[in-house]
Amino acid sequence: MSGFSAEWLALREPLDLRARNRSVLNAVAAAFQDRPELAIVDLGSGTGATVRTLSGRLPKQQRWKLVDDDPVLLAEAFATAPAGVSVETQEFDLNGDVGSLLDGVDLVTASALMDLVSEPWLANLAAAVAARSLPVYVALTYDGRVGFSAFDPVDAQVISAVNAHQRRNKGFGLALGPGAATSAERIFRAFGYSFLQGQSDWIAEASDTRFLVELLDGWRQAADEMGEMPPGALEGWFTRRREAVEAGQLTLSVGHVDFFAQPSGRRTVVPPKDAAVYDAVAPNRRGA
Ligand SMILES: C[S@@+](CC[C@H](N)C(=O)[O-])C[C@H]1O[C@@H](n2cnc3c(N)ncnc32)[C@H](O)[C@@H]1O
Repeated sequence: MSGFSAEWLALREPLDLRARNRSVLNAVAAAFQDRPELAIVDLGSGTGATVRTLSGRLPKQQRWKLVDDDPVLLAEAFATAPAGVSVETQEFDLNGDVGSLLDGVDLVTASALMDLVSEPWLANLAAAVAARSLPVYVALTYDGRVGFSAFDPVDAQVISAVNAHQRRNKGFGLALGPGAATSAERIFRAFGYSFLQGQSDWIAEASDTRFLVELLDGWRQAADEMGEMPPGALEGWFTRRREAVEAGQLTLSVGHVDFFAQPSGRRTVVPPKDAAVYDAVAPNRRGA
């Protein structure tokens, strides 16, 4: 199952939905509560998870442009778009001129994308949105933290290999991987943005059997591709972990971060307890 297949996206969507940081979501909703209508562009939309999550929290009149380079995912996104929301899709390689997607837009969104991109790509996106003073909501950026409910001596080696794999080129140059959220904060703050962030960890329950097996299998493949672990050790780890999942004896947390970055001059909603807020500070005022 590929990392971007409709099957995998469908499998992870319920966990994504549970994980999305409510305080960050509330801040996005609050920022637009007085607006009669809104135009949103969702970058790397896949099958449309973000429009499904966010549309009920935004003003009734919404126009979404869902952008992805996979026409199969876009067709699925269009077919499953929430009722009452205007949705168009655009097949587009995000290595192209992202600024061309932003005209007439009020909000830029993305989910499960930022850990795939490179630092130059993210800096270019931030420059393009800052030039237009656009707010940005980004959900579900992997941050490298993994917690198993039961110890296995090989876990640490596997996760270290997975995190190294996450930094490989995923189509945008060397990927930010687990460092993406930290880079995003630094870059958006340098553009004078306020930055509200909160954790959005996947909590995979014992009943999420299929999801867990697919996730662990993906990690096995990633660790194998890194070539640093003896195959026997990796296969033994996967067998033990799969058996534990199938016996209903393993749960897992996987660290993610959501953020809402707003250009300075906009009001930042009061930070709730599970989110951290940073005031916009212009780089020259910080002596950076
Ligand atoms: C992990 S999926 C996330 C999909 C969706 N946002 C979600 O949360 O379910 C990453 C998405 O980025 C898209 N993507 C990856 N590289 C891309 C590129 N160069 N241009 C456009 N889309 C790309 C993939 O097709 C995929 O839909």
